[in-house]
Amino acid sequence: MCIRVATIDDVYEISFLGKKTFDQSFGDLFEDRKDLTDYLDRTFSVEKLKGSIINSHNVYWLPYYGNAVVGYAKIQLNSPSEFIESTKSCKLQKIYVLKEYLSQGIGAQLNQLIYDKAISNNSQYIWLSVLKSNEKAVRFYERNLYTITGEHLFSIGKEYFDFWVMSKKL
Ligand SMILES: CC(C)(COP(=O)(O)OP(=O)(O)OC[C@H]1O[C@@H](n2cnc3c(N)ncnc32)[C@H](O)[C@@H]1OP(=O)(O)O)[C@@H](O)C(=O)NCCC(=O)NCCS
Repeated sequence: MCIRVATIDDVYEISFLGKKTFDQSFGDLFEDRKDLTDYLDRTFSVEKLKGSIINSHNVYWLPYYGNAVVGYAKIQLNSPSEFIESTKSCKLQKIYVLKEYLSQGIGAQLNQLIYDKAISNNSQYIWLSVLKSNEKAVRFYERNLYTITGEHLFSIGKEYFDFWVMSKKL
């Protein structure tokens, strides 16, 4: 297993993985499948990802299992939150592993790289949003010493979702 930083050449792979892992994780929560597919097409459009990956505030990683890319992670550097007093904070924006490769320590390794990047950026906090009902992910973050610091709602199409904000002092 190895992990590398993604480049603009990887946007098609990230678009595919972004859609697939989101669908695997949350697809069942959508009553109307079109709400989901519209969101996925918007969020993981190749054009949008190209802009995101060349933005120096963003870093994407790709974990490999043999020759296969099995997930992705993204940090947004210098990303303040209303729930954190310091403006020197980063956001762990995405950490997704394909269903077939869960619970093999890949998430833990991605989390370590994200942590190291936040430290080398001189950030004081790292934070994230996680669906309250996503107990596996909440447990994962708690094990990695994040604590709940806020909550918010987010809507996708006709669905409303409840999120925790979790953060860790660096
Ligand atoms: C959250 C997420 C990224 C964690 O990734 P992961 O690769 O499964 O994480 P790890 O393998 O490091 O740890 C997960 C579990 O495996 C266990 N584990 C880790 N390494 C292990 C090993 N070598 N042998 C046995 N178990 C192991 C951990 O103890 C942990 O246990 P848990 O299931 O009780 O929580 C992953 O669950 C995921 O992609 N979920 C779907 C998408 C998602 O919800 N993303 C977060 C959105 S906010």
